[in-house]
Amino acid sequence: MRVLGIETSCDETGVAIYDSELGLLGDALYSQVEMHARYGGVIPELASRDHIRKTLPMVQQLMEQTGTSASDIHGIAYTAGPGLIGALLVGASFGRSLAMAWNIPAIGVHHMEGHLLAPMLEANPPSFPFVALLVSGGHTQLVAVKGVGEYTLLGESLDDAAGEAFDKVAKMLGLAYPGGPRVAALATQGTPGRFVFPRPMINRPGLEFSFSGLKTAVRNTLIELGKQADFCEQDKADVALAFEEAVVQTLVIKCKRALQQTGLKTLIIAGGVSANQRLRAGLQEMVEAQRSQLFYAQPRFCTDNGAMIAYAGCQRLMAGQHESLAITAHARWPLESLPSVRAQ
Ligand code: KG4
Ligand code: ZN
Repeated sequence: MRVLGIETSCDETGVAIYDSELGLLGDALYSQVEMHARYGGVIPELASRDHIRKTLPMVQQLMEQTGTSASDIHGIAYTAGPGLIGALLVGASFGRSLAMAWNIPAIGVHHMEGHLLAPMLEANPPSFPFVALLVSGGHTQLVAVKGVGEYTLLGESLDDAAGEAFDKVAKMLGLAYPGGPRVAALATQGTPGRFVFPRPMINRPGLEFSFSGLKTAVRNTLIELGKQADFCEQDKADVALAFEEAVVQTLVIKCKRALQQTGLKTLIIAGGVSANQRLRAGLQEMVEAQRSQLFYAQPRFCTDNGAMIAYAGCQRLMAGQHESLAITAHARWPLESLPSVRAQ
């Protein structure tokens, strides 16, 4: 089965064609980052309008580049939530309508399921069951995964998501949006051990996260440093490193706990923050000590992209799932409410 995937949940227009036999045939991504950068964050209305401008020409270009005609495509997958409702509605209206015009089935994909399944696009994919750490701009969740659509939430952030914490700390450090990769780059210049921030909630049992206290600790440190006449770039790099280490260590401890609690031996990480090198290294060390394995997607499939939506949609369409003619999108959508693809 060959599926066209469309991602428009936030500030990236992603399109891809995935074939269940041949794998990923092609994908393209347009990032609106520059447009939103001057506002320090995503402006939803501008995002929706830009998706309207980009989606059709990007699909046309991808079909040309991959030599795909409409009759080669057997289904259309679009992100139906969670995300910015206006942005989601662009992809949903476009995808659902195109599927009707081409007389093929359409499927609305859960954005976090897309992220969760992105490591499946790699040459050496993980096998079920596994523990998934989902770390994006909007979510920090630990999920026990038995199969596609068989998700049990083990724990999540009570306040900020990990990516959101990176973005907010970036802003405090005077770095541009999106801050995650910039904080990580600055941290490489940091002096280890100069600052040590709290590791939130590691002493409490359970698999919940909280990053707002850490954010406050960073803010207070920066206020104190700012009062000093010799406040400089090195201070900022030292703060960035201490912040990144606190986030990474917190995530590593919770992932270890999730593996122990479930008895599972495979951990996958997905979502924008899973591109973080320090996180990958910290988790790699932990899984080796636990005699477990770690899987993640290549960096361009950690952040938002069309390939993960095409892949996830393909799994559901192959199981016979599809949408009615109604165009629906959900700003909020619990991952656990999704149906399994296994015949019940
Ligand atoms: O998954 P994603 O592209 O979008 C959402 O679904 O939210 O994740 C974006 C988030 C942003 O907060 C961004 O700062 C963060 O992922 N991010 C990173 C890195 N690359 C992206 N955070 C830390 N280190 C990175 N290398
Ligand atoms: Zn995402």
